[in-house]
Amino acid sequence: MRNPRNFAKPLAVGAPTPPIDIPVRPSRMIHFFDPSNPRMAVKVPELVTKLDVLLANLEDAIQAEKKIEAREGLIKIAQGTDFGDAQFWVRMNSLDSPWALDDLLRIVPEAGDKIDVIMVPKVEGPWDIHYVDQLLAQLEAKAGLERSILIHAILETAQGVANVEDICSASPRMQGISLGPADLAASRRMKTTRVGGGHPGYLVRTDPNPDDENAPRTTAQQDLWHYTIARMVDACNATGTLPYYGPFGDIADSVACEDQFRNAFLMGCVGAWSLHPSQIEIARKVFSPPPEEVSWAKKVIEAMGDGTGTIMLEGKMQDDATVKQCKVMVSYAELIAKRDPALAEQYGIDPATLED
Ligand code: GLV
Ligand code: MG
Repeated sequence: MRNPRNFAKPLAVGAPTPPIDIPVRPSRMIHFFDPSNPRMAVKVPELVTKLDVLLANLEDAIQAEKKIEAREGLIKIAQGTDFGDAQFWVRMNSLDSPWALDDLLRIVPEAGDKIDVIMVPKVEGPWDIHYVDQLLAQLEAKAGLERSILIHAILETAQGVANVEDICSASPRMQGISLGPADLAASRRMKTTRVGGGHPGYLVRTDPNPDDENAPRTTAQQDLWHYTIARMVDACNATGTLPYYGPFGDIADSVACEDQFRNAFLMGCVGAWSLHPSQIEIARKVFSPPPEEVSWAKKVIEAMGDGTGTIMLEGKMQDDATVKQCKVMVSYAELIAKRDPALAEQYGIDPATLED
């Protein structure tokens, strides 16, 4: 147990005070790039104008012999880029790997003032977060950083899922959690070979027709990730952290990618990873509230006045609980409107009238 009175105090003398509330900024797409690749590096200044989050990946997908190049490339890019309104995140190597310690020892002093969030893969329990938390505090103090770097955990081991609530509440730095369906499938010994999405074999079937043994029996594919996403969303919202869907590996299947992202959005996630430029626009579309929902939500809030009692609006019952849902929708639309003028117009929201 951590002493709750000390929860938001720095863990090292001279380190910045960690935030009690996570700054909520649009993070609809977390776009992964390989910082060891010079062809990607030249695209960064243009990319950041289009993205909510740009993430330099040091972990899986970066070959062992490119790990140092990726780390050094990241530092150079961070130092030379004005990220504007976009956030800059880093996925470090996993804590049991030969690279994790040097990732933090190198990047925090050299680029810590540019890094909003460090994504920690394969988190098993709160002990992993405590370790990174303490080390970050020491490094921030040594580097004289004025702002705490936040931590994002990937939920991608069976043990991590079993400990997800404790992971979310392990540190005030906990910004959010992403589902990592590929590693999680391996850790759980699931019999799949995909990166996220559904599987045609995971289905339910209607009973046989007693009068006709040859009659077709309808099937419906089920969602392999429902349980984990639901658990992650509850753990995050119970602790003031943000839930995200992770990667969708079938890049050519934009329809299924959109479906997977939308399921996550409807269940409460605020964003997903984009592994390819084509997934950036899918995430932007899905994780921005639909204008017609925003306009309906505004109508309900207006019609409900002080929010108490019950009314019927176009045949639908409204009460305190529907007003609360509508307020979630409108406040999320306001957040997006501050970043996205075209959507602000569609929502009928003037960003100039909103508080920072
Ligand atoms: C992501 O890292 C995954 O394993 O799905
Ligand atoms: Mg993974």
